[in-house]
Amino acid sequence: MALPGLGGVHGQTADRYNSFRFGVCYYPEQWPESYWEDDASRMQECGVNTVRLGEFGWALMEPREGHYDFALFDRAIATLGRHGIKTIFGTPTAAPPKWLTHKYPEVLDVLETGLPVNDQSRRQYCYNSPVYRRFSREIVEALARHYRDNTNIIGWQIDNEMNNENPECYSESCRAAFRVWLRRKYGTLDELNARWGTVFWSQTYSDWAQTDLPFPTPAYHNPALMLDFKRFISDSATDYLNDQAKILRRYRPDDFLTHNGVFKNINYYTFSRGLDLYAYDNYPTFEDSPRYPTGAMLTQVRGFNGRFMIMEQLTGPAGQTYLLRTPRPGEMRLWAMQTVAHGADGLLHFRWRSARRGAEEYWYGVLDHDNVPRARFEDFKQEGQELQKIGPQIVGSKVVSEIAAIKDFESQWVFDFQFLTKEINVSAVYEALFQAASEQRYNIDFVGPDADLSNYGLVFAPQLALMDDKLAGRLRRFVEQGGTLVMSAQSAIKDRDNAFTAGIIPIGLTNVFGVELDSFQTYQPPSDTNNDVRFDDGSAMAVNVFAEVLHPTTARVIGRWERDYLKNSPAATEQRFGKGKAIYYGSLFDLDATRYLVRRYAAETGLKPLLADVPAQVEMTRRTNGRSDFYFLLNHGDSPATVNVGDDFIDVLTGQAADASLTLAPFEYRVLKRERLAK
Ligand code: GAL
Repeated sequence: MALPGLGGVHGQTADRYNSFRFGVCYYPEQWPESYWEDDASRMQECGVNTVRLGEFGWALMEPREGHYDFALFDRAIATLGRHGIKTIFGTPTAAPPKWLTHKYPEVLDVLETGLPVNDQSRRQYCYNSPVYRRFSREIVEALARHYRDNTNIIGWQIDNEMNNENPECYSESCRAAFRVWLRRKYGTLDELNARWGTVFWSQTYSDWAQTDLPFPTPAYHNPALMLDFKRFISDSATDYLNDQAKILRRYRPDDFLTHNGVFKNINYYTFSRGLDLYAYDNYPTFEDSPRYPTGAMLTQVRGFNGRFMIMEQLTGPAGQTYLLRTPRPGEMRLWAMQTVAHGADGLLHFRWRSARRGAEEYWYGVLDHDNVPRARFEDFKQEGQELQKIGPQIVGSKVVSEIAAIKDFESQWVFDFQFLTKEINVSAVYEALFQAASEQRYNIDFVGPDADLSNYGLVFAPQLALMDDKLAGRLRRFVEQGGTLVMSAQSAIKDRDNAFTAGIIPIGLTNVFGVELDSFQTYQPPSDTNNDVRFDDGSAMAVNVFAEVLHPTTARVIGRWERDYLKNSPAATEQRFGKGKAIYYGSLFDLDATRYLVRRYAAETGLKPLLADVPAQVEMTRRTNGRSDFYFLLNHGDSPATVNVGDDFIDVLTGQAADASLTLAPFEYRVLKRERLAK
């Protein structure tokens, strides 16, 4: 079995994805063909240049095993093409046809109880099933061959939302593949036994056949096994994705390849390496207050392989068995533009028309079930017409940030299993970092542990539990060369086997920080009333779960615990190291702490906010293409907001000079351009 690896798949190129795409997800197979022409001309009227289609159409494309029929999609693609609308084809493997799952039940995803899932929905398959892999390759090859010369197709979405709805699988195929994966990783059982520490609870393996997936057990699992299980799932998903990518590259080398969505148990840095850009499915109404959580997600997605689009953007009310709130007038367009503000180079709404039947009857599209254009259609049209002007000007420009936070999926996965207390929430930490930076008018990036840090002035390391020599070296060099590094508690505590070591914590970094971990208290929820860090400038931050007692070797103490038996012991330290500075914060980051640390260290590092005096309800980001800076101003408030931008901006939408003082209506946005001064 081929596991894992990129196997000759080539990733990002500058020119496969080269223009701003705007449009909708379209399901021609769900509607009478008599609707199509009208659909295409209405789309054209709205400025649509792209649809995604096909991703749930396998039963039509291969109605019987080995018999392919793409005629319906040929006609739909041609109809759209006549209206200037290009197609992103979704390979249909997220929803296998009934003949397949009934004839070959071994393809089904299996739950941890050992029972296969039922096939009456979608995502019911196993990545490691050799049979499913064969059928997936065959349908993708048939598609790619059939559409080899089709000029209306410009890109491909491989499968749909991998790991949504089935983030784990316990099938016999996965068991077998896991053993192969372990063998490849560890080479010998002695090595595996040593690295997993299987002497504990008499878990020593004497035959590879004894190794297994983490099925339910009476007591707890080995954390090394749990982390490897996640790595294995991620590698399985990546390998499955690359199977299709290789075929598509062979037949359609000029098309861009992407995949959509962010879910559990995938390391998206490696997963997206063979793709031209990543795609996110953005449904802000899953959040009560979406501004910051969505901004944090978009920031995260931008970091996967450097380029992204939105494949599915919320349009109206949305639900399946549940129903989310309806966007207020203006919110749909504001949220769409928020994605562009954070770097999206294209945007498709989900979906063109609300489905009359099936699991997503409550998921509203641009048009209602009755096909009557109402307010959402008008909003969508306005958005499309605006993006026809804005898109081509900003496409390819980048969100350039001076602040970064390292996001390491493996370190985050540690806390999925060893969650420690119910209050620990790693995603919330990234939201807090995003919010703190955004409130203070800085762009921020989330980057992987392998990222080049040299262009950042200020880097946060939030509970990076796992440390290795490479990452420690990168952090050390960053500080040596003049960067400011701020690390939280629970960082550099273990090695990549998810195991403690003989090293003093923070392992590999004690000299950079000039500090050693002495001891800690774990406050139970709600932790924040139990203690505070009092900083040298008088500010106090409530403890978040951990209160670490630090032993400074060479660092200066800048914060001490206020209460409890820890009173007066060092809680935060700072030291110069090389040309830079390393700050250790002895608790987990939360919003107050990140607000404080961003303010203090952005100022000390000499970082300048993007614009001054922007009202709090207005979000602001900046994209840059080297010649021009594009400022995005988004009023998330339900009252008007005035921004004094000064005289030197052009309004990108109108091409006219922007007023020095702009008032944004509730949920209104502006995109302003300023030429960069030649240095
Ligand atoms: C996404 C998915 C779509 C549709 C949409 C609305 O998760 O990719 O197929 O299900 O959400 O639920």
